[in-house]
Amino acid sequence: MLPDDILLKNIDWDFPDSVNNSGIHAIHPYPAKFIPQIPRELINLLYTDPSTSILDTFSGSGTTLVEAMRAGIDAYGIDLHPLACLIAKVKTTPIPSGFEDIVSDVALRARTRIKQGNVDIPLIPRLDHWFKPHVQEALAALIDEIRKETDEDIEDALSVALSSIIVQVSNQESDTRYAAIDKPIHLNDVFDRFRKAAVNLSVTLQEQFNGSQNRIGKATILNRDILMVKASELPQNVGLVITSPPYPNAYEYWLYHKYRMYWLGMDPITVKNREIGARAHYFKKNHQDEHDFERQMGMCFNLLSQVMVPDGIACFVVGRSIIHGRKIDNTALLSRAAKPHGFVVREIVERRIPASRKSFNPSHGKINREHLIVFTLSESS
Ligand SMILES: C[S@@+](CC[C@H](N)C(=O)[O-])C[C@H]1O[C@@H](n2cnc3c(N)ncnc32)[C@H](O)[C@@H]1O
Repeated sequence: MLPDDILLKNIDWDFPDSVNNSGIHAIHPYPAKFIPQIPRELINLLYTDPSTSILDTFSGSGTTLVEAMRAGIDAYGIDLHPLACLIAKVKTTPIPSGFEDIVSDVALRARTRIKQGNVDIPLIPRLDHWFKPHVQEALAALIDEIRKETDEDIEDALSVALSSIIVQVSNQESDTRYAAIDKPIHLNDVFDRFRKAAVNLSVTLQEQFNGSQNRIGKATILNRDILMVKASELPQNVGLVITSPPYPNAYEYWLYHKYRMYWLGMDPITVKNREIGARAHYFKKNHQDEHDFERQMGMCFNLLSQVMVPDGIACFVVGRSIIHGRKIDNTALLSRAAKPHGFVVREIVERRIPASRKSFNPSHGKINREHLIVFTLSESS
C-alpha cells in the first residue's frame, strides 16, 4: 500500500550531489542504466511488506537487483540481452575464493598460446576495422582460456571483466561514438587492463558480500523476451516493481554492446530483432509506431497484474521519444497501457537526465527529462 503521507515530490530525484557511478555499479558500462539512488530511494520509501519480492521487468545491468539485494530483499530481473543478464548475474553473485590467482593463471596461459602461435581468431564481421591484429590475438587467447574454467561463477566473472575492456582496446572512439580512430594500444595493454578490471571486480564484490552484517537478498535473473514470459515463471508475491523500459528510438542496447557480444559468442542480431524500441523497427518499411509500443507495454502490465500482490506498487522511469519528427509522450502512453490491467497512477515526478548519459541517436540526445511514474495495482483488479 502506498502510504498517503509519502510524497515523492519531496525528494530531488536528480540527485545532483551524488557520485552516480562507483563501486559495483561501475564494473561494466551499460546504456541508460539507473543511477543507484533511484531504486535505493524507492525501496526505502515504498517497500513495506517483507513477505514480498521486488521485480525489474527490464533489469539491464541489474541496478535494481543490487539495491534490493543490499536491502536484504529477494529480487527478480528479466532482460532480453544476454550480456546484460551476465553483468547482472556477476554483480549479484559472491566471487569465488582464489579468483585473483585464477586471473593471473588465465593471463599466463593466454600469453603462452600467443608465443606458441596457437590462437584461432573467431569469425566476426569487420573485425580488422575495429581491432588491431595483436589486440585480436590477445582477446581470442583470453576468451579461449576463460572458457576452460570449469566453475561457472569464475567463467562469468572473468567474461564480464574482459567484456568491460573490449571497447577500450578496440579502435572504437568511445562507447557512444561509432567511429574508428587510431589508438596506441599494445599487446601488454590488453593484459594489463584485463587484470586491473578483474582485480577491481574481485575487490568490489568482496566488499559487497563480506562487508555486510545484514541479510543479503537473493537475485534471480531470467534472460528472456518480456513479451514471451508467463506468470508461472515468476514468483506470485511481487510487492514492488522498479523498472525503466526501453522506449522507441532512444537507446540501442544491442548496438552498444555489438562487439562485446560477438567476442563472447553471443548473437547481437537476435537481440536487435526482439529489442523493444530499437531504431531498426521504427525506420524500416512497414515500421512500428507508438501504438505497437503501447501494445507491448500493455502486455508487460498484464504480466505484472498476474504476479503482483493486491495494492502492489510499480515504478516506471521513462523519457520522451521522437518518431519521424513527432514527439511521443511515453508517460501518457504508459498510463494508458497500464489502466486496463488495474493500475492506477498515484504520482508522477520529473527528473533531469544527466548530461553524461549519451545515446547513439542524435535526436534522442536532445531529450533531457524523464518521468518517474508510480502506479498501484487496485485491489479489485
Ligand atoms: C533502460 S534499460 C534498463 C537499464 C537498467 N535499469 C539498469 O540499471 O541497467 C532497458 C532494458 O530493456 C531491455 N529490453 C529491450 N527489449 C526487451 C524485451 N523484448 N524483453 C526484455 N528486455 C528487453 C534492454 O536490453 C535494456 O537492458
